[in-house]
Amino acid sequence: MDIFEIGVDIVEIDRIKKAVEKNNRFLEKVFTDKEIEYFNSKNFKSESIAGNFAAKEAISKSMGTGIRMFNFKDIEVLRNEMGKPIVKTYNNLAKMCIDYNVLEIKVSISHSKDYAIANAITIIKD
Ligand SMILES: CC(C)(COP(=O)(O)OP(=O)(O)OC[C@H]1O[C@@H](n2cnc3c(N)ncnc32)[C@H](O)[C@@H]1OP(=O)(O)O)[C@@H](O)C(=O)NCCC(=O)NCCS
Repeated sequence: MDIFEIGVDIVEIDRIKKAVEKNNRFLEKVFTDKEIEYFNSKNFKSESIAGNFAAKEAISKSMGTGIRMFNFKDIEVLRNEMGKPIVKTYNNLAKMCIDYNVLEIKVSISHSKDYAIANAITIIKD
């Protein structure tokens, strides 16, 4: 096991709140159906949406690319039964993970009143 890259991202919660309010396609353009189901279970709280957005950007950095060669919906951040974020990959990002021998992508999310932050780590096979 080895670390490929790490990534971090910070998001202004109000910016995400406004994006959701102004553009009714924002959620479906950026998040998968399962992520939207999770937000629904949280009454579409802006901090949870911003936390998932930060998670996707942090994960994109932990691939060393940013959001490039794959899109936001190729990253899915759900929660396990304890509330811990779990990362799944799809389409071109899933292919990249196979090419890079990625074992797992871990992410941690936090939010305060104004900001959401996420930290990601991509773990590869030696
Ligand atoms: C990399 C990216 C996720 C940065 O997110 P951001 O919210 O714009 O900016 P942040 O302040 O969070 O991060 C900037 C830092 O990311 C880091 N960064 C830049 N490219 C990176 C990469 N390929 N991998 C990891 N980290 C990267 C740099 O440290 C940068 O800070 P610096 O310019 O002072 O060195 C984003 O710009 C991106 O995905 N770019 C790639 C392609 C693109 O432009 N797509 C259109 C966006 S939808």
